[in-house]
Amino acid sequence: MAATDIDKSSNEEKRNLSLGGHVGFDSLPDQLVSKSVAQGFCFNILCVGETGVGKSTLMNTLFNTTFENEEASHYQNGVYLRPKTYDLQESNVHLKLTIVDTVGFGDQINKEQSYKPIVDYIDTQFENYLQEELKIKRALFNCHDTRIHICLYFIAPTGHSLKSLDLVTMKKLDSKVNIIPIIAKADTISKSELHKFKIKIMSELVSNGVQIYQFPTDDEAVTEINASMNAHLPFAVVGSTEEVKVGNKLVRARQYPWGVVQVENESHCDFVKLREMLIRVNMEDLREQTHARHYELYRRCKLEEMGFKDTDPDSQPFSLQETYEAKRKEFMGDLQHKEEEMRQMFVNKVKETEAELKEKERELHDKFEQLKRMHQEEKRKVEEKRRDLEEEMNAFNRRKVAAETLQAQSLQAASQQPLKKDKDKKNFFSLPSACSLTSGRHFN
Ligand code: GTP
Ligand code: MG
Repeated sequence: MAATDIDKSSNEEKRNLSLGGHVGFDSLPDQLVSKSVAQGFCFNILCVGETGVGKSTLMNTLFNTTFENEEASHYQNGVYLRPKTYDLQESNVHLKLTIVDTVGFGDQINKEQSYKPIVDYIDTQFENYLQEELKIKRALFNCHDTRIHICLYFIAPTGHSLKSLDLVTMKKLDSKVNIIPIIAKADTISKSELHKFKIKIMSELVSNGVQIYQFPTDDEAVTEINASMNAHLPFAVVGSTEEVKVGNKLVRARQYPWGVVQVENESHCDFVKLREMLIRVNMEDLREQTHARHYELYRRCKLEEMGFKDTDPDSQPFSLQETYEAKRKEFMGDLQHKEEEMRQMFVNKVKETEAELKEKERELHDKFEQLKRMHQEEKRKVEEKRRDLEEEMNAFNRRKVAAETLQAQSLQAASQQPLKKDKDKKNFFSLPSACSLTSGRHFN
């Protein structure tokens, strides 16, 4: 019903009326301006480029100041992002500027994952904003918006072509952030080489389907300048914070034995074009594109992932309440299913353990029986041995008694027949050997 109302009102004809005198709503734009000025602005720049390619120098040159600058080492294990926020003021306009540096980019032997920390950082900022939006008590105007508005991609001035790291990284970033590619340290490359290098870079970006930020041409006031600047991409820039006297003026430049490269001289490099496009003409469009295009895409994917949708399968509007109920039901179903699974798993585990214990008990019992049998066998053998030994002892004793009796009889006979003395004596001494011969055994 609500939808048909909306349709009706949008089809309604509007009548043009003229006012009888000054009402005052023509001051609305001024009200907006003064509100925005009072609120201040924020702008977040991401500088992606190899260590030492000239990121910090260019930032200092762009904003004509000296930001904190920590030189990165070439020995980082991976890439990490270092955001720094500054409060800047020009006239009565306050700008909260965040510069995010990619530390260690391009320094690893394996660069396969180099883009990941950058993508993660951008997503985290979107996620923080989405979480704030989803809160019941939102503070979107007061919260520090850290979403990246522009990614300046620094291309090393090789004069050859883009590196695969450049292409992979830009491809991964192009749906998440506005990219402006720039050729760094453009003073190190000759004019004709630079011209060819620019063409090569653009053709490589097009053939690999990398979408870079296009300066908007739909606003008449900037159509011409933006259209002409789009043709100059990628900008070839030179950065310097050094001031050199040229004529009777001090200008920012880099001085060489053979001459001076002036940063703000348009025939020397594209620095002025970059500053004009980035800060003076398109800063607001970059902020808008970030919100309306890149953040919108992130938000849509995230909400769809969470199960929210605008219409049901019959193309009927789907309310938040219905989505919540459907999600809740789905969640409870999942929970019940998981609970049942866990219970079943527990029962199976108990059964398994019980069977294992029973098996162990049986094994132990068998072992015990076997030991018992071995013990009885041993006992039997020892008993037999003892009996044998006893018998042997008895036999020995019997023979000993017999020998002693024989000896006594011999002695007696000898005393009665002295004439046969020598002969008897011989018999007497041979008795034990005779005994042993008759028994047929030896004793130890
Ligand atoms: P890290 O933060 O350590 O990764 O380095 P960076 O990318 O911030 O580079 P930085 O601005 O510190 O510059 C590194 C060196 O390059 C310095 O010696 C600068 O003077 C020099 N440099 C910076 N910009 C230019 C340029 O446009 N041309 C030339 N020839 N040298 C430059
Ligand atoms: Mg730096």
